[in-house]
Amino acid sequence: MNGLFIMISKIDLINFYPHVNEKEINEIYDIVSLKKIHNDKYIIYALCFLFNQKNVNYVELKEENVLSEGTFSKVYLDDIYVIKKILSNKYILVQESLISKIIDHPNIFKWSKFVLDQNMKPCLMGDLAILDLYCCLTKIKNKPKLILKIFKSICKGLKYLHENGIVHNDIKPSNILIFNKNLENIKSNEIKICDFSNSCFEIMESRIETKYTTLNYRAPNNDIEHDIIYYSKCDIWSCGCLLYEMLTNDFLFANQNDIVTFSKNIDDFNKFKNQNPMIIELIKFMLEIDITKRPSCNQIIEKIKSISLST
Ligand SMILES: Nc1ncnc2c1ncn2[C@@H]1O[C@H](COP(=O)(O)OP(=O)(O)O)[C@@H](O)[C@H]1O
Ligand SMILES: [Mg+2]
Repeated sequence: MNGLFIMISKIDLINFYPHVNEKEINEIYDIVSLKKIHNDKYIIYALCFLFNQKNVNYVELKEENVLSEGTFSKVYLDDIYVIKKILSNKYILVQESLISKIIDHPNIFKWSKFVLDQNMKPCLMGDLAILDLYCCLTKIKNKPKLILKIFKSICKGLKYLHENGIVHNDIKPSNILIFNKNLENIKSNEIKICDFSNSCFEIMESRIETKYTTLNYRAPNNDIEHDIIYYSKCDIWSCGCLLYEMLTNDFLFANQNDIVTFSKNIDDFNKFKNQNPMIIELIKFMLEIDITKRPSCNQIIEKIKSISLST
């Protein structure tokens, strides 16, 4: 784990804001390094720094352009762009911006800038995807080759995150963006993991606590205290659930009781019957109950390669 935080240095901040005094630089630094937001005034300074913007643009967000509305955010269509407005939690806004600054991988979605809406609320702006994976589940159902192609790209993006100390913590179909409407011809770099609102950084040792993965994708050990090196394994569990949903369009686990049934009888689990055996084998590989034995993204990618070769 190389700790991408090393890339955020106070010197860079001082160079970006040469006329800002030391006390204010410290306030901005605390925001960009996700320590504390002392004063709302400095959020705009922090965002300008994170997106390397000298100026702020304004947009008018209209309710008729809402693409998606969640508990914490609203996503709007704006011509060829999308704009995400994070409704209440400023920490999430800074976290998504920080991750956009520090990551660089073809299978991870990056916001390109921040803008202010008509109410002076900061929002994130980025390229518009064709759809999310949730919307194309019916088109990929029972197409093992296509499913593995898409899933492998997701694993590559996740591997990059994990190697850089970031746990996504909300892997599910609606958090995967698709940038090609012709799925049969999709290229790897047209599949991108998005939504870092639930993520956490291993380096900060601030375990999720109140940040739980969406229920159907939540690992049995999601809320158990574990050594820091295992946090990323909660994403692997979610990947197992995601792959099953890609294959069948059905949730693998509706609740934690289903996981208990599953763990007692993995080889004869009802939901696995009459499904593609190679994909089921891969799903079982990821759904290792013992978090210390659950595979890494790298091991999963290797396994996919061996499956692809033998089909
Ligand atoms: N760049 C994008 N292009 C198209 N749709 C997007 C884009 N980003 C997000 N969305 C849509 O908005 C939804 C919510 O965005 P997301 O970042 O996941 O926020 P939330 O935290 O509300 O889940 C996504 O599931 C997707 O359908
Ligand atoms: Mg989401």
